[in-house]
Amino acid sequence: MRILGIESSCDETAAAVLDGDARLLSNIVASQIPVHAKYGGVVPELASRNHVLAVIPTIEQALAEAGTELAELDAIAVTQGPGLVGSLLIGLQTAKTLAWVHDLPLVGVDHVEAHIHAIFLVDDDLLPADAPRPKPPYLALAVSGGHTSLYRVGEGGSIELVAHTVDDAAGEAFDKVAKFVGLPYPGGVVIDEMSERGDRSAFAFPRPLKRRDQRFFSFSGLKTAARLAIEAVGRPLTEQELSDLAASFQESVVELLVRKTMQAAAALELDQLVIAGGVAANRRLRQAFADACSNAGVRFFPTPPAYCTDNAAMIASLGLRKFRHGEALVSEERFHMDAYPNRRLPMPKTR
Ligand code: KG4
Ligand code: ZN
Repeated sequence: MRILGIESSCDETAAAVLDGDARLLSNIVASQIPVHAKYGGVVPELASRNHVLAVIPTIEQALAEAGTELAELDAIAVTQGPGLVGSLLIGLQTAKTLAWVHDLPLVGVDHVEAHIHAIFLVDDDLLPADAPRPKPPYLALAVSGGHTSLYRVGEGGSIELVAHTVDDAAGEAFDKVAKFVGLPYPGGVVIDEMSERGDRSAFAFPRPLKRRDQRFFSFSGLKTAARLAIEAVGRPLTEQELSDLAASFQESVVELLVRKTMQAAAALELDQLVIAGGVAANRRLRQAFADACSNAGVRFFPTPPAYCTDNAAMIASLGLRKFRHGEALVSEERFHMDAYPNRRLPMPKTR
């Protein structure tokens, strides 16, 4: 069993090949960071154009590194959404074409669900086959540049949305605050590094959504608070002040994510937690979750940082699972598969 995963929902063109145990044979990510860096964020039209250029070479490289060919594959998995429509369409159209030419089953995958499925990859260095894995039911936080959502994963991989952001995603807030003080894109990584040298209590940021029954996230208020704090200084910040601001802002985001997630774990009586997505690579966030989980008796499964940011290994991982559950399309219906740029999994009716 060999499956090719293709990902193009935002600004990374990625392809990966897995074998039957979800063992990673190759994992290629063509990053567009240099293309978008000068704009301080992703420019959708430039992203689509770069996917067009990168998609075939990226797939060819993934197949070559895996020592396989399209004719030897058993299926193709591709991101259907959510994401930028122009970007999604490049990966999807490529996957449909390859599936047609080589008569392969095609599996459509949800990008956010795939983020939390990266924990099931098998990689001898980072996620060996015998490493502990979560067993349903468990809680999973997907926190990235485009998404901040908490899910309950149930038996058979069923997935329910438990909480989501009502405005910005956490990664977006990191990137905007960084842009505001002239730090390079993507800001989350830079803020993570600068925070090491900063004082977390130097700037007083609000601690929003204190009430337990508020089952959602919100980051736009923190972003505004950061802007006001910078303006209040009234001159360019010194290197130390920048580090202090980074550390203080990061701490408020971390505290909000950890508090809301742990409240949900207690309310839903879940004793395992997976974190995934680009922001889950944040070192302070990982430490804070490790501490909170240990205090609460929750088993913690942080996705290895290499699989937190966008990649196609996670797409192939969820694709493999769906293929085994008979969810691959095989006939004409493959060619009618649509992108869903705005899909969000529904909130459970009981809450
Ligand atoms: O998962 P991802 O690659 O793309 C989306 O699905 O959105 O996440 C990218 C986001 C960016 O906002 C980036 O600033 C953030 O993840 N990020 C981080 C770190 N590494 C990436 N944020 C905080 N700390 C990090 N170490
Ligand atoms: Zn992502």
